[in-house]
Amino acid sequence: MEEKNVLWDSLSVLKARIEEELDTLKNSKELYEFKNVYLEGKKSKLSELMKGMRELESDERASYGKAVNQLKEWAFERFAQMEEKMRELELQRRYESEKIDLSIPAEPARIGNLHPITLVRNQLIDIFAAMGFEIYEGTEIETDYYNFTALNTPQDHPARDMQDTFYLSPEFLLRTQTSAGQIHVMEKKQPPIKILSPGKVFRSDDDATHSPMFSQMEGLVVDKGITLGDLKGMLDVFVQKVYGEGTRTRLRPSYFPFTEPSVEVDCSCFECGGKGCSLCKGTGWIEILGAGVVNKKVLENCGIDSEEYSGFAFGIGLERTAMLKYGINNIKLLFNSDLRVLKQLNEK
Ligand code: PHE
Repeated sequence: MEEKNVLWDSLSVLKARIEEELDTLKNSKELYEFKNVYLEGKKSKLSELMKGMRELESDERASYGKAVNQLKEWAFERFAQMEEKMRELELQRRYESEKIDLSIPAEPARIGNLHPITLVRNQLIDIFAAMGFEIYEGTEIETDYYNFTALNTPQDHPARDMQDTFYLSPEFLLRTQTSAGQIHVMEKKQPPIKILSPGKVFRSDDDATHSPMFSQMEGLVVDKGITLGDLKGMLDVFVQKVYGEGTRTRLRPSYFPFTEPSVEVDCSCFECGGKGCSLCKGTGWIEILGAGVVNKKVLENCGIDSEEYSGFAFGIGLERTAMLKYGINNIKLLFNSDLRVLKQLNEK
């Protein structure tokens, strides 16, 4: 009798506990923990109650078993209700946390833009292409022959010191000038030749106006009767297109082994119009490129008859052009990829 009461009591105790516990569950993890402890498996509280049946007299077993089964049915039903409730609750929580307000104005999409060097490069290509120049892109690794020797700069020539070279081996180097492309073109093709060769060049040089890697654009024209006057005429058109009408050019004597005569080309200062300002350091002129009449020796090195043909060549530094155009005094600003700087330059 004693035994019986304890067992029957524990049925109602368990029922009350289940009811109570169910109310405290906060999420489905706790819900399934609850299921393991109370409802499912051999060690669950319900199974333990069922096991108690053995201790009962046989006449009582049937009604006790029935009561446990009823409790079990009830408990599973309550569990299913809770499970449903929890699912809804958690869905609700998820909706809350993932809620988006579709009426908030979107952040403006950031539109990319071309790098100032690319802009300058494209502009110059457009100008020269309109004059009939074809593009030739050489390679960044060159042999000593193409970069120097064929350009009338043999080993031990003092002009080699003008450019601090990165050698990869005694034979191979990173080209120091796009002039190397002149040789490739003239070796392959007889005049008339009219090419423009943009590309990266490399020199061991590093300060506010020099970078170990920079970009040049080489021009080469070879035909019958080409003179320095043709170069000057072409450059006049060029500077007016880049720096505005009214910009003038002047040629100053210079030296390059592969041109004779060689010139340094200045244009009248586009900031002050030639009166003198901080940009042109009071001179009224700004140096923009190196050029000259192709040295006969270079033509001969490429198998072109220097009696029949002549030509001119020029080399423009693109970073320098961009620095002048955008009014920046440190070349590193062009290479640091600082979006604030690049964005500002793009607005100019
Ligand atoms: N290659 C020369 C330099 O890098 C520039 C140049 C090109 C000069 C063509 C004359 C003719 O300094």
